Amino acid sequence: MGKYVVEGSKKLKGSVDISGSKNSALPIMAAALLTEEECVLENMPTLRDINIMDSIMQSIAVETRFEKQNNIMRIKAGGAVYNADNNELMGKIRASFLTAGPLLSRFGRARISLPGGCSIGSRPIDLHLKGLAKLGAEISKEFGVVELKCKKLKGADIYLDFPSVGATENLIMAASLADGVTTVSNAAMEPEIGDLCTFLQKMGAEIYGKGTDTVRVVGSPGLKGAIHRIIPDRIEAGTFMLIGAACGEIRLNFVRTEHLRPIVAKLREAGAEVVEDGDAVVVKNTGCIKNTDIKTMPYPGFPTDMQPQFMSLMALGQGTGVINETIFENRFMQVNELNRMGADIKTEGSSAIIRGVKRLTGTNVRATDLRAGAALIISALAAEGTTEISDIYHIERGYCGIDEKLRHIGADIRRVDQG
Ligand code: EPZ
Repeated sequence: MGKYVVEGSKKLKGSVDISGSKNSALPIMAAALLTEEECVLENMPTLRDINIMDSIMQSIAVETRFEKQNNIMRIKAGGAVYNADNNELMGKIRASFLTAGPLLSRFGRARISLPGGCSIGSRPIDLHLKGLAKLGAEISKEFGVVELKCKKLKGADIYLDFPSVGATENLIMAASLADGVTTVSNAAMEPEIGDLCTFLQKMGAEIYGKGTDTVRVVGSPGLKGAIHRIIPDRIEAGTFMLIGAACGEIRLNFVRTEHLRPIVAKLREAGAEVVEDGDAVVVKNTGCIKNTDIKTMPYPGFPTDMQPQFMSLMALGQGTGVINETIFENRFMQVNELNRMGADIKTEGSSAIIRGVKRLTGTNVRATDLRAGAALIISALAAEGTTEISDIYHIERGYCGIDEKLRHIGADIRRVDQG
């Protein structure tokens, strides 16, 4: 267990290199199960969730080699099995369920422990299962394990009741080796899905409509290994953009500005200075953040994964802003912690009303989930005095060496092990 100790109110200035996307790397690791040949993934982030997914792959007899010093992961699923006894490991991260589609389409069977919910919501998998059933899977759920069977998946027309990112990813992967054509309508359009489709196409998959809400997959008899560079993490980039808007002037290198549009738009609306410069973006604090309203939406709307961080920025903004969280039912857990630092935030159902205050003051706070933890880092950097953030394992699930990157631009943040 560890904590971050942050001395706030420092002016931050400098450059940060953005790492590869966690939410792109996880489905792409699962997609490597679709072939017996070796896949080489570059720009892989070194994160707790990636390490757990790596262990899950090894538990199903997949050969992996993660060269962390150069962010390269080699995956060879020639000897993979679908029925390992790895429930406990699978239950550690929700992304484990992304192996369902690949294992089912490769072996005709899959056994996955039901993914736990997490603190931000119940996180059901009904849309995944409904779509896989349409492709011909027989599904049973008992003792906390989902068993899927189908000799050979058959292409189908699938409509997603909600543009679920994970369900879209699972179904595209399953359809890649199915017999015939699959159409996924009302598909999610997050950039990580586009990156997955690019990787699958390099493996030989025939996919049309990449990045749109209607994706068509013509099933292939088999797929080959491929080399792929993971896209930059737009949520890590967004998080550092907000730190720049709150605390100084930060240049972010290796971003894809086209993936940052909703964050750039909202930051400019709030009065921050944002300059796009090729594969970099510079965000500067202008001394006055005007609170605005935010509604989280599926991409290309404002991302739910940036909602807690933006709330931290608004806590010190001028005026009142309203955040409407439409994606997850319990994603305001940062509110109590921010109010302990002097923020003035009230929640009403899926909305939070943020009245900006003049200052936040340091105290002991707790990270309740990944992005709420990131929000507390922003508020601690902007607050007066010392803030101790505990349960930082949540934060380290999704941010590569965030304390080191922050020290590099002048932040006074220390990581303290708590035994
Ligand atoms: C992905 O989760 C991301 N995780 C999440 O990032 C992100 O918040 C989310 O997409 C939305 O953008 C990864 O990519 C590993 P969903 P996922 O299926 O796929 C409901 C982070 O902080 N739903 O799009 O699980 C669900 O309950 C994480 O990096 C169903 O009802 O998200 C939720 O309300 C957090 N039935 C909504 O859809 C289903 O079968 C969005 O879920 C599936 C989802």
